[in-house]
Parts: sequence; C-alpha cells; structure tokens
Amino acid sequence: VVDLRSFFADTGMFTYDPGYTSTASCTSQITFIDGTKGELRYRGIPIEELATEHCYLETCYLLLKGMLPSKESLQDFDLELRHRAFLHEGLTKLFNAFPDNAHPMATLSAAVTALASFYDDHLNVSNEEEYQEMARRLIAKIPTIAAFAYRHSLGIPFIQPDIDLSFTKNFLTMMRAYPGGKMHLGPKGHEEIKEVEVRALDTIFTLHADHEQNASTTVVRGVASTGAHPYVAISSGISALWGRAHGGANESVIAQLEMIGSVENVKKYIAKAKDPNDPFRLMGFGHRVYKNFDPRAKILKTLQDELKEELHLDSRLMEIAGEIEEIALSDEYFISRNLYPNIDFYTGIILTALKIPKTMFTPIFVIGRTVGWITQWIEFKKDPTSKIARPRQLYTGE
Ligand code: ACO
Repeated sequence: VVDLRSFFADTGMFTYDPGYTSTASCTSQITFIDGTKGELRYRGIPIEELATEHCYLETCYLLLKGMLPSKESLQDFDLELRHRAFLHEGLTKLFNAFPDNAHPMATLSAAVTALASFYDDHLNVSNEEEYQEMARRLIAKIPTIAAFAYRHSLGIPFIQPDIDLSFTKNFLTMMRAYPGGKMHLGPKGHEEIKEVEVRALDTIFTLHADHEQNASTTVVRGVASTGAHPYVAISSGISALWGRAHGGANESVIAQLEMIGSVENVKKYIAKAKDPNDPFRLMGFGHRVYKNFDPRAKILKTLQDELKEELHLDSRLMEIAGEIEEIALSDEYFISRNLYPNIDFYTGIILTALKIPKTMFTPIFVIGRTVGWITQWIEFKKDPTSKIARPRQLYTGE
C-alpha cells in the first residue's frame, strides 16, 4: 500500500489520470470537437461543409495553411502532390523483404520509417517553407506506399503513380489496375473506376483528416517532443492507429458483421457486449470524446444510403448493421454509457463496395490522417511552450 502523504511530500503534487481522460497536453488551433453536441470543425469550418462542398485536397490545404485554397493555389498544390507521389527505386525494394501475407499496416509503418533514411535533411526542418514541403512529400507518397504494400501482399506488380490522375483516383488505380493501368481488378474482370467511387473515397479521406489529440496523434506529438526524425513520428502514429481500439476498428467492424452473419443473431451478440464477464465489444461503437452521435458517422450513414444502389452496397451487411444500431440505440446499457456508432462503424461497408479488402481499411485511414498528424507535428514544433512528453507515475511496487 502506498503512503500517499509521504509520496506527495517527496515528489510534489501531480494528477493521476490513466488514459489522460481529463488532461490537456497542449493548446491547439487545428481541430475543435464538442463531444456533447456531436460537433467537429477543422480550422473553424464544420465537417459537414467540408465533406459535402470541398474535396480532400482542399481540406489538406486548410489544415496545413489555416485557410481554404484559391483555385490557383489548389491547382499548384494538386500538381505538386502528383509529381511527388513517386517512390525512390531503393525504397521499392524494401517491399520484397516482407512475407507475401504481411499485413499492409506492418509494411506501411516500416516503409515510412525507411523513407526517413532517404530524406535525412528533414531531420532538421525548422522553417515554414521546409515544414510545408515535408508535409506535401509525405501526403503524396503515403498512398503510393499503401498501394504497393497491398499489391505486394497479393504478389502482383506495382502500378506507378500517374500524374494525369487526381489524388484519390490515382490511389484507387494503383490499388486496382492491372499493369498498364487501363484495366482494373474486380469480380467481373475488367472495370473502370467510376467517379462515384472516387467521390466516396475522397469524402472518407476528408472525414479522417484530423481528430485533435486522439491516441495516434498523441503518439506523433510525443515522438516529435524527443526531436526524432518527423517521418519516424508519422510512422509511430501509423503503428498506434493499427490497434482495434483506434483505427483498426474499421477492419474489425466488417469482420464482426460477417461473424454475426444474420439479423437473427444480432440480439445474441448485443447480449455478449453487455455482459461484464465477456470481453466482447461492439466494434465501431463508443468514443472517448463523443457522448453523442459521431458527426462523421452521421455523414457516412447518409452517404451509405445515397450510394446504396449506385455502388451495390452489401445489403446483408447493411441490414445487420442497421439492426445493431436500432437495438443498441434504444438499450439502457448503451444509452447510459453514451455508446453511439463512431466513424468506423460505417466506413467498411462503403470501402467493401469500392472493392477494397478489409486489410486495407486501416491504411486508408492512414492516408486520410497523414495531413492531420503532420499539421499537429508542425504546431508542436512552432509552439514555444512545447516540452518533451514525460508523464509521471504513481509507484506502487516494493
Ligand atoms: N461495446 C460494449 N461496451 C462498450 C463499448 C463497446 N464498443 N465501448 C465501451 N463500452 C463500455 C465499457 O465496457 C465500459 O462499461 P463499464 O462502465 O460498465 O465498465 C464503458 O462502456 C466505458 O468504456 P471505456 O472503455 O472506459 O471507454 P473509453 O473512453 O476508455 O474507450 C473506446 C473508448 C476505446 C472507443 C471504446 O468505446 C471501444 O473499445 N470501442 C470499440 C472499438 C472502436 O470502435 N474503436 C474506434 C474508436 S473511434 C477511432 O478511433 C477512430
């Protein structure tokens, strides 16, 4: 038993806050969340407006520069990203070192760390121009790395980026095209990528772009605080995102819906989720900050309903998801704990319709979130009050 009186006399007063539920680790001007009202804004602009009236690259620009781009600035930004999407030939060899069945998140995290060795000079980035250049380089290259990681896991040749394609269409093409770029992998053989698919994925990227001090961003800021290479900070964020309690939940949601299998089985699994002696949790439900509907989930639910016919969404999975939602939202267990669907509950059904396999759901989250991590990294570096992340502990040992 710890004698707290003598402990505090020795060490001074500090808070004990596991999971930092009540501790702000920084001040920030990037993203605002009102978890009670279910509101989210990037740089003051509501997420609903960004998701419906602007594209992902405009959102990236907004996060990085604090304002939406003019038409010309957007064109320049877009063009530079297209040119920077290529990977050094040396880096492409790295993929062969991974087993065929490697999870793309493992390959992605490792490849972004490896990227640091190609841009040694970025260790000492110290002014706005260098920060922004580094940001554009990472935003452009991470989709290529993710697509290569996926193609390596299938054992098929890489498709190089195409400077004639937009950011999001380029990624879908690198994922789905046969060598030569004209034909696409799909259940019916050769399929073109449809504009509606590009729009859906672009919206998903926007919704993931930033989310203030979530677990992976906290890791990125923590690594930034030690002075390590910025790419390593991003790679650490990728690793943190992989977990099922965080970004990895999107992969688990679809796996769980498939496991539940039918609407008739939903009640049984809801009962498991409520059982205090059963570790089973409803994936895609609950959030540390939102004590109301996650606004990103609302946007995706609407998008899902709009695209149901056009994208041939899996109606069986949608029915199971709908039943879970209906039962949970009127169940005392979920109501009293403020457990609502979060963003991950809806992404999987849309991504499946885009012919994206489950293992690529979290890499897609990474692509969207990269801009948020870098913006937070830059804010940390520019803040004169930033300090090395070094929490205290309450020692309870011998
Ligand atoms: N299913 C069933 N019960 C749940 C769930 C769930 N998904 N989430 C929380 N609970 C219960 C807990 O058992 C706990 O109950 P108790 O008070 O009786 O012990 C209570 O709700 C509070 O849960 P905590 O784990 O303390 O809440 P915390 O804020 O620490 O965790 C988290 C939030 C990790 C998101 C949690 O809700 C969860 O594990 N959800 C499922 C995974 C998921 O969807 N993650 C994605 C989050 S969004 C994102 O990162 C992009």
